[in-house]
Amino acid sequence: LAATALAGAAALTLTACGGAGTAGGDGGSGTTMRLALNQTEEHPSYTALENFGERFSETTGGRWAIDVFPNETLGAQQEALQLVGDGTVDMAIVSGTQLENLNEDFLVFNLPEVFDSVEHQMSVVHDEKIVGDLYASLEESNGVTVLGGLTQGSRSIYTTSGPVETPADLAGQKLRVQESDLHVAMAEAMGASATPMAFGELYTGLQSGVVDAAENNEVSYFTQKHFEVAPYWSSTNHLVGLDYLVVNTDRLAEMSQEDRAALDAEWTAAHEEHTELWASATEDAIAEAEAGGATFSEVDEEAFSAALEPLADQFIESDTQQTLFDAARAAAE
Ligand code: GCU
Repeated sequence: LAATALAGAAALTLTACGGAGTAGGDGGSGTTMRLALNQTEEHPSYTALENFGERFSETTGGRWAIDVFPNETLGAQQEALQLVGDGTVDMAIVSGTQLENLNEDFLVFNLPEVFDSVEHQMSVVHDEKIVGDLYASLEESNGVTVLGGLTQGSRSIYTTSGPVETPADLAGQKLRVQESDLHVAMAEAMGASATPMAFGELYTGLQSGVVDAAENNEVSYFTQKHFEVAPYWSSTNHLVGLDYLVVNTDRLAEMSQEDRAALDAEWTAAHEEHTELWASATEDAIAEAEAGGATFSEVDEEAFSAALEPLADQFIESDTQQTLFDAARAAAE
């Protein structure tokens, strides 16, 4: 699948002659940026990003446009991130786990115990004083600028075989995780054996028994139709996950000051809209998954949080990481 996605992206590159193309609607004077997303059109990220693009195009009088490509059509996140770095694709939404692989400081925000709620998370990841250096840290090394985050909400475990109540119930089960050493350790701490895998391969992975379980938010559980093949949801709420909007650094530098300010303002409106959409999207997803045969169960949340608590000490190694962690925790109080 990864190879197919890459070939697809390469083909698109040839026809578009590089990252950004010429905007069609305004006599060819504007620039259209392509944004890679791994969610469906039903996901709130797609809605908020589509609206973001429309407003940005309006406020810049058509000098810029954003074309959102859902469903991994520009590649799975790992490839999409690389393509943004080399300028083949202009923007992408990637999970924090992907950025952790480029700069380990990002792992702090992928820790199960760092954020208490979506609101807490959003206040931290858009606080310039906390994240300013972190978000600029990939510019020289990878050609990528981080603009900010979209929440992944609270993540829980779902399985093909039956509900889990305690970490002991995950013994012997292969739990799919994102491509991250931290999340491999997280799955193991919760009692499972970990299988890292790209998001788009997971439906088939669950269906064929390559994995027995996965963890995500209710919205992706429903929009990816994972409930069809893994109908037992157990509300571990072990992590408030985080996606980032990454942009090719050179592309950003091409914007006039005025257009860059417009981008930043519309992006702020976009992540705020996304947060507003999130709660009702979650409720809808639960109702629809239940109607489709999924069952939602409570777990011994204490047992899971006790198992996960040592991860912060295990993974935080540098002063920079500790400072980020402390700043995030201070904002919770
Ligand atoms: C969430 C998140 C994605 C991520 C996915 C995953 O859906 O929004 O960015 O790729 O989880 O588990 O891989």
